[in-house]
Amino acid sequence: MSDVVATSATPILDVTEVSKSFPASKDPLGRVTARLQAVVEASLSIAPGETLGLVGESGSGKTTLGRLVMRLTDADAGRIVLDGVDITNARGPELRAARRKMQVVFQDPQSSLDPNWLVRDIIAEPLRAYGASRAERQSATERLLADVGLEAAHGARYASEFSGGQRQRVAIARSLALEPNLVVCDEPVSALDVSTQAQVLSLLESLRDRRDLAYLFIAHDLAVVHHISHRIAVMYLGRIVEVGPADEVYYRPRHPYTEALLSAMPNPNPADRRERILLSGEMPSPVEPPPGCRFQTRCIHAMDRCREIEPELVKYGDIEVACHLHESGPRLAGSSVVEVSRQQSGGVGYIPRRASD
Ligand SMILES: Nc1ncnc2c1ncn2[C@@H]1O[C@H](COP(=O)(O)OP(=O)(O)OP(=O)(O)O)[C@@H](O)[C@H]1O
Ligand code: SF4
Ligand SMILES: [Mg+2]
Repeated sequence: MSDVVATSATPILDVTEVSKSFPASKDPLGRVTARLQAVVEASLSIAPGETLGLVGESGSGKTTLGRLVMRLTDADAGRIVLDGVDITNARGPELRAARRKMQVVFQDPQSSLDPNWLVRDIIAEPLRAYGASRAERQSATERLLADVGLEAAHGARYASEFSGGQRQRVAIARSLALEPNLVVCDEPVSALDVSTQAQVLSLLESLRDRRDLAYLFIAHDLAVVHHISHRIAVMYLGRIVEVGPADEVYYRPRHPYTEALLSAMPNPNPADRRERILLSGEMPSPVEPPPGCRFQTRCIHAMDRCREIEPELVKYGDIEVACHLHESGPRLAGSSVVEVSRQQSGGVGYIPRRASD
């Protein structure tokens, strides 16, 4: 997906330096002795009608960031503004009003849909909660079923009778019942087989375009994220390390972690000779992240300063990246990792190796 959505409009979502930690251990008196940093000073912005993809390995903090945005968990610090209204500390009616404008679709519709409810009741439930009449609920449910490619008769069945793809269509219909402006999609197609994934992705795209919806689209699969997103943000160990237009991040990654994620993907196109970077080792513990750059223990480009100074997210045109490589000189700032490496090695490029070599 390469079409860029105009970002001059007021963002539907504006998140500034939000952080969230969880207690990781307690002493015998129940006092917290260590905390796990799930999200650290994350900032992002999404325009109306725009899809921001959020990628990263398991445990990098994607779901926690999505839950912070949805106000399903409280932030320790930072600010969340939805459609111009600061909802960081919203409670009661204010939070209820915000919830109308944003909805969530989870990975596993099996567990998020009650198997004992009829599909039409599942879809109408948010409308009932917000006081819609029986007639309003009925007409909205029929319309929503059609919008997600299901038949009216499906409304009289139980979700447990449906395939995974159909259940995800029901979950999407329910998320749209209150006509939100923003939908947080947390791994919405990860549990589906490849052909069903393509159908559900195409449904999400057409709903977005018809309804001017914005998505925060969370997934670990970069190819899926690239397909649907206008921009992509990459998370590593709680921090956003790169953000930019989807094609830029996918074809010219600026951060060594993004490059390694891409390199690890199976590549069906032999013409695309991406150098293979071995992403060795596990992600370090978010209870004790490494000093300096969080990626330094696995980065093949790590330098002395990477072990001491944490790089800040710096803007280079429409790209933002947190990596000391880009401080090597004005000629290299904001270039792709491959270009930076080639310049530094006099045109030879780099030899793929493990960080521990
Ligand atoms: N409620 C919680 N209590 C304690 N730790 C938590 C809680 N929720 C998340 N974490 C921890 O926070 C970190 C980030 O988790 P999160 O679920 O946000 O990652 P993720 O990127 O969504 O991973 P995945 O791709 O596996 O879904 C992990 O180390 C996780 O164990
Ligand atoms: S700051 Fe250093 S260790 Fe971190 S990604 Fe950049 S080069 Fe690698
Ligand atoms: Mg998750």
